[in-house]
Amino acid sequence: MNKKIELTLEFVKNKLQKESSGHDFWHVYRVWKNAIKIAQTEKADMFVVQLVALLHDIADWKFFDGDLTIGSKIASDFLSQLDIDKVIIEHVCEIIQKISFKGAKTKSEKLSIEGQIVQDADRLDALGAIGIARTFAYGGFTKREIYDPNILPILHENFDQYKKNKSPSLNHFYEKLLLLKDMMNTQYAKKIAEERDLFMHQFLKRFFEEIEEKPFKFNHL
Ligand code: NI
Repeated sequence: MNKKIELTLEFVKNKLQKESSGHDFWHVYRVWKNAIKIAQTEKADMFVVQLVALLHDIADWKFFDGDLTIGSKIASDFLSQLDIDKVIIEHVCEIIQKISFKGAKTKSEKLSIEGQIVQDADRLDALGAIGIARTFAYGGFTKREIYDPNILPILHENFDQYKKNKSPSLNHFYEKLLLLKDMMNTQYAKKIAEERDLFMHQFLKRFFEEIEEKPFKFNHL
């Protein structure tokens, strides 16, 4: 492994190891692995892809009062110590700042191919069985209910509305997760996303059957 990648991996591991919101080191590890796989099917700078994947959650806006710049600041400080070209650091930090989901109706930012690849890898980890596990882990971490039949999912109009949202964990499937398969950038990720999306639909169907409630009806799904 490239020495600089190894040091970045070590840095991230130390920072995120005991994280319990679903954005722990192993989430980053899976995103890194999947990003490498996706990058092999695209023409991309593998070094940039790996740095972004490893540093993408180093300081998530969700935990810093909606501040989108902290993650890229920490990443930039760290990468500067590794004697990495300034242009590469700027590219990595720009992607980290743009990459995260900010609400269903928020216009997504234009990303380089390296950014698109990591965004896909990050989104794949929000889908399927792992996505379900992470959703409820995050819900517990932010003190949300699992489900409330009286609170219907909504599509957030903008980032401000999305970040203030405190709806039950189950609503997150309708507000974000089931939208992701149509938002994938690369063909490779799209294929995996479709399978994982199907599994989430099965999970939701079963969930409502077990509790004998009517499933949420949503026009866009
Ligand atoms: Ni992530």
